[in-house]
Amino acid sequence: MGVKYFADKRIFKLDANNTSYIIGIVDDENFIGHVYFGRRIADGHFSPESLMRINEYPFVPSKNKRDRLSFYDTFPQEYPTHGIGDFRETCLEIRDVNGHAVSKLQYVSHRITGGKPKLEGLPATFGNEDDCTTLELFCEDPVLGLEVVLVYTAFEKLDVITRSVRFRNNGRDPVWLKKALSCCVDLDGADFDIISLHGSWARERHVQRIPAGLGKKIFSSNRGEPGHQCNPFVAVVRPDATEDSGEVYGFNFVYSGNFYACVEGGQFETTRVAMGINPTDFEWLLEPGGEFIAPEVVMVFSYQGIGGMTRTFHDLYRGHLIRSPYRNKKRPVLINNWEATYFDFDTEKLLAIAREASALGIEMLVMDDGWFGKRNNDNCSLGDWVVNEEKIKGGLKYLVDEVNRLGMDFGIWFEPEMVSPDSDLYRAHPDWCIHIEGRTPGLSRNQLVLDLTNPEVVETVYGMLKKILSEANIRYVKWDMNRPLTDLGSNYLPPERQGEISHRYVLAVYRMLERLTTDFPHILVEGCSGGGARFDPGILYYCPQIWCSDDTDAIERLIIQRGTAMVYPLSTIGAHVSDCPNHVLGRTTPFETRGYVALAGTFGYELDVTRIPKEDREMIPEQVKMYHRYNDLIREGDYYRIADYGENRLYDAWMVVSKDKREALVTYIQVMQRPNYKSRRIRLKGLDENTVYRDEQTGETYTGSALMYAGINMTGLHGDFKGKLIHLTAV
Ligand code: GLA
Repeated sequence: MGVKYFADKRIFKLDANNTSYIIGIVDDENFIGHVYFGRRIADGHFSPESLMRINEYPFVPSKNKRDRLSFYDTFPQEYPTHGIGDFRETCLEIRDVNGHAVSKLQYVSHRITGGKPKLEGLPATFGNEDDCTTLELFCEDPVLGLEVVLVYTAFEKLDVITRSVRFRNNGRDPVWLKKALSCCVDLDGADFDIISLHGSWARERHVQRIPAGLGKKIFSSNRGEPGHQCNPFVAVVRPDATEDSGEVYGFNFVYSGNFYACVEGGQFETTRVAMGINPTDFEWLLEPGGEFIAPEVVMVFSYQGIGGMTRTFHDLYRGHLIRSPYRNKKRPVLINNWEATYFDFDTEKLLAIAREASALGIEMLVMDDGWFGKRNNDNCSLGDWVVNEEKIKGGLKYLVDEVNRLGMDFGIWFEPEMVSPDSDLYRAHPDWCIHIEGRTPGLSRNQLVLDLTNPEVVETVYGMLKKILSEANIRYVKWDMNRPLTDLGSNYLPPERQGEISHRYVLAVYRMLERLTTDFPHILVEGCSGGGARFDPGILYYCPQIWCSDDTDAIERLIIQRGTAMVYPLSTIGAHVSDCPNHVLGRTTPFETRGYVALAGTFGYELDVTRIPKEDREMIPEQVKMYHRYNDLIREGDYYRIADYGENRLYDAWMVVSKDKREALVTYIQVMQRPNYKSRRIRLKGLDENTVYRDEQTGETYTGSALMYAGINMTGLHGDFKGKLIHLTAV
């Protein structure tokens, strides 16, 4: 059992693989305290009171009535509430019918069950009784009549604890939730570093590491989606933590909307980490009997450095988050026409690309933006999901059948959440977009966001999608989302529920994705948002892969994919070989290197294969073979970062090792050549010390210990942006 209750000490001990997480119930008033989170400790023979410091004057609530606030302000709380004296970051802020903001939680009872219950309407990790155990702590604020259930799941074979919170109004009056975060942990020590992922369009998820220090550091989004700028992930790490050693606490929010993460160094050498829905643009009305679920936070602990954390996230997401039937399957090598043609295409052009592509071994054609309504640029037609037969001459079915005849599958692009002011949909229903009556909503990419809180809007748009997808043999959908939410107002919701728009929007997207994947289980759905602005575990629950970035330059991708793979498995990272000079950066890199970098993702092409240089085209069959040879390993193996070009400005290297350690693939990219440098030695990771490995290309054999401790020389590369693969198999 991964969760135990020790009644004598009133503690709950959650054990996840090498991790323990301990919660204590203290005092006559049943406060819920955080005892410990870290490397696994044995049952018994430790003092929860002393770890929570509850006997240290003046912090004894029942013994020290005159200084209650000192207790509140220092006690490590599992779910701190606002307004009673915990002046650090709190998780719960309410407004009651009298206009008051105070709440206070007390433990009432608990339930321990095998497995993990679903979170109604929300994506979340899953597991059965062999995988995990769930603890529900039933708490209440008796004055408000508010029940709050803190839900924890410990995964037994992975260093993972998940958390979420359920609210139920058992009182007679409504209560408004103004802030309802999903988790809070008070870590001991104020000398942590924070790792987070930041960027912009075309440079998503660059890794940042900064000292946590004292005071608050906030990582958040109020864009209605996570956005390019900040990912819903933070790791709080000991300052001596490296890639391969040291303590690391990773937090990832399973949510695709506004998020909030706060790391706060406090007055007594503790650090509080809180995460959940961003309270900005959030307010939820709980009528009597009403319920609300705060989405899941995944907490990963590693004492084997940042790399250990990464591999745990990858295992968890591949095994217990992604549901798609494609999750353990090789995805078809696709060619997408976006960078090949942009909006300027028709049936003939697409078929010309398909003909050439199929001859080279490419397996699927994806028709990107521009096939519907009157869409010849990005100024119109979103919402009019009707095939433009002036471009798609002969209709969609004809095109798909022709592509199928070439032995290729067919995929299609949608942006279902949006509407162009210049569209039939908008002209018929100008009130169906998110806006405030009397104000002109701001445009972005000349488009508006549909009010998905309105079921009629969802029904209409989903109906159009369903029709298209039923018309022809479509095997793949790219689900795009190309602007943030602003001007939050809904004609559908009453005034007292306008604060719910952002969250209801996300719930509606989830419902649509659920429907899509249920109605069309054979369709591979790839998430996308102006590149990688919505790359989060919430989307992965529905889509086994997400387009990582509109930047397909191999060198920039080293940094973007490294940051993405900090948390998300390589199998989820949408990566394509595109044409050069690169459309975003103007940089030219060897075609071969572009292939090596895309190999560390889903792999595909994004170019006009009829027009690229002959030498490049001739490399494609080999690249496709390379993908088929290595994809099982890359998709399912353990990922190790070896060298970071972002740090050393010279070279990058990573490797993937099969779970049984019988096979490994090393990718080395020499970004900048140095004069007089004939070779560079890198040390490998994750191999078995005593196994002898053969380098497939040279035939040389090495022990795992030699490769890991002495290293291997990278030779034979001359020039910038050059790369090579080393494939090792156990002899
Ligand atoms: C977004 C996507 C691109 C492409 C365009 C189409 O920017 O990230 O890959 O699909 O939209 O408009």
